[in-house]
Amino acid sequence: MFDKSVYVNRRRAIARGIGGGIALIPGNNESPANYPANTYKFRQDSSFLYLFGLNHPGLAGVIDADTGEDFIYGDDAGIDDIIWTGPQPSVREMAESAGARGASPFTRLAGVLRDAIAAGRRVHFLPPYRSLNALLLEEMLGIHHSLLKRYASLELIRALVASRSVKEPREIEEIARACDIGREMHVRAMQEARPGVREQYIAGLLEGIAASRGSMVSFPVILSQNGETLHNHDHGQVLSTGRMMLTDAGAETSLNYCSDFTRTVPVGGKFTSRQREVYEIVLECNQRAMELARPGVTYRWVHVETCKVLARGLKALGLMKGDVDEAVAAGAHALFMPHGLGHMMGLDVHDMEDLGQVHVGYDEETRPAEQFGLASLRMGRRLEEGFVVTDEPGCYFIPALIDRWRAERKHEAFLAYDKIETFKDFGGIRVEDDLLITRDGAVCLGERRVPATVKEIEETMRAE
Ligand code: GLY
Ligand code: MN
Repeated sequence: MFDKSVYVNRRRAIARGIGGGIALIPGNNESPANYPANTYKFRQDSSFLYLFGLNHPGLAGVIDADTGEDFIYGDDAGIDDIIWTGPQPSVREMAESAGARGASPFTRLAGVLRDAIAAGRRVHFLPPYRSLNALLLEEMLGIHHSLLKRYASLELIRALVASRSVKEPREIEEIARACDIGREMHVRAMQEARPGVREQYIAGLLEGIAASRGSMVSFPVILSQNGETLHNHDHGQVLSTGRMMLTDAGAETSLNYCSDFTRTVPVGGKFTSRQREVYEIVLECNQRAMELARPGVTYRWVHVETCKVLARGLKALGLMKGDVDEAVAAGAHALFMPHGLGHMMGLDVHDMEDLGQVHVGYDEETRPAEQFGLASLRMGRRLEEGFVVTDEPGCYFIPALIDRWRAERKHEAFLAYDKIETFKDFGGIRVEDDLLITRDGAVCLGERRVPATVKEIEETMRAE
């Protein structure tokens, strides 16, 4: 973890943000996979990590915004635990390392909250995303679990979003480290993408690289020669010549900061001319977004400008027609790119998504859209120095969506359906990088960019 002063300062900022009362921040617990002692790999809650830094299950933190004191609740390991899991730091030691004033057994927490409520003090909490924490909040606060989202503290959400959105230099260093691991994963994936190799073999290698360099992958690996399925976790196919392999994968460091890259490469190492033509368009979209992203512009504008690059390119290939600006305003290009340009990234790969996308990616000025495609844009608001966002345009030929839109004659003034029909076997392409917004513009995080151009990819795939 970072020095305790980092967590103390962050908690003081949150206390100022909520203005009074107490903030209850439960950490995560172990989560059983198929029987209680066989658990999924432990993942701490990111807001708890951000505010207390303790990567340990079964803890809860309390920030007292009136007294300026913070507390950790949890139970020390008993001898039975120590026999199986080895010596553990005491809760007091953990509280000290986080700069918190006090440590108490977990059972005391309920009484503290009861007393606070009885005294008319506000208890701020975040919307829970794990059922165990929802049950805990229900039990301790007397709010039915179905109402917890509604009663979550807007002040606490806003204070955390304000604080976590602007990355500190130490956080940027960690994210860059995650990017370096992500680069290693993607280079290996490119080198293994040969005909006859099963997708799951490569996906497994990537998980192994992430686990051996840090904590784990930052989300389940997406890797498939059916790249037109946006989040394809089925790794059962054998790679074959003439197809492309889309890999969307990233790593978490041991401090749980994330990376998230996508590359699409030709199986066997050489793009066909049709693949290259579409690939170059998507790469141009990715690079255009990188050029445009800077403090003061909305990411929604960057998304829309990127979509115009896509539509212009597809028009040149005879897949779209008509006026490009009008086509994008109408949402016709979303047949090919039904998702948004990117999202915030940090301690979560979709940073703070549990706090509510409307609070993280939008604000009073920039509201979420309803149009198909644009509605999936997770990050729309004005960029600020210190934000980290992904830049991930794509172009997909999704047979079911093409059939549906064609039957509905949707946007037929802009879509050349006869030509599109001939691309139904194409698959999908996405190119994703992780951008830091600096005063002068956007920079790709990581020591070296993941190979991205046709030339770089083909050279990497040729290398032993
Ligand atoms: N890389 C997965 C996603 O951004 O949804
Ligand atoms: Mn992403």
